[in-house]
Amino acid sequence: MSTPLLQTNDLQLAFGAVVVADHINFSLNQGERLAVIGQNGAGKTTFINICTGLIRPQAGRVFFEGKDVTELSPRAIALRGMVRSFQLPQLFTEHTVRDCIRIAAAGKRNRLGLWTPLAKAVDDDQVARILTMVGLDKRADELSGALPEGQRKLLDIAMALIMKPRLLILDEPTSGVSSDEKHGLMKTIMNALDAQKVTAIFVEHDVDIVSQYSTRVAAWIAGRIAADGTPEKVLADPEIRKNVIGE
Ligand SMILES: Nc1ncnc2c1ncn2[C@@H]1O[C@H](COP(=O)(O)OP(=O)(O)OP(=O)(O)O)[C@@H](O)[C@H]1O
Ligand SMILES: [Mg+2]
Repeated sequence: MSTPLLQTNDLQLAFGAVVVADHINFSLNQGERLAVIGQNGAGKTTFINICTGLIRPQAGRVFFEGKDVTELSPRAIALRGMVRSFQLPQLFTEHTVRDCIRIAAAGKRNRLGLWTPLAKAVDDDQVARILTMVGLDKRADELSGALPEGQRKLLDIAMALIMKPRLLILDEPTSGVSSDEKHGLMKTIMNALDAQKVTAIFVEHDVDIVSQYSTRVAAWIAGRIAADGTPEKVLADPEIRKNVIGE
């Protein structure tokens, strides 16, 4: 069997008496579209924070493409190909949409290990291609801070994609977006991921979105993975329906 893209071995973390990672053993293969579900405070964002180096677990290890990344910085992990977006998009709001992409690309170092000057970070064609992919080409010269929420989300994802990740972890890509906009947003995101052949994990509360856009679902309850399998199986699981979906 090939090496999993992402693997966690027995992750454990508690904030005081609150257990947020309770022996998490998880693995993800290339090409999967994993939806992470769970009620508020279940530990979904914490799991992402541990995998991407923002928080250290008290025990356990994280492996990306077979290499132990548990002690690496978020930046070092991103440069290796595991990139995440935040629940609230982290944009450079005083800069144009185009410059946000350039700044994100400049975060990569060149062959000599030097920082890349902004103007040379990425060629204009590449910027145009990524903006077209997420439907922001017509807004390239507008300030990112002026975009409506759905487009801020897309810009955040475009900034992640310019890093050429192999795994993209999206923390609630559709939160803050009206329900009739959610499907359009998800379709755009999924098309961009397909075009770039990027494996993805996305946290999502909307069951309809989960069932339509994931190939696998993992359900978090109080820091543990309570169910993991196909969307049909997990979304029909009585424990998940009662304790996660809230029926
Ligand atoms: N740095 C921290 N210090 C103390 N407690 C924290 C910290 N970060 C998160 N928590 C707590 O850990 C628990 C899990 O939080 P987390 O953000 O992982 O939840 P979540 O599943 O992403 O929830 P949501 O759906 O609301 O985003 C919550 O009770 C939260 O208050
Ligand atoms: Mg969260």
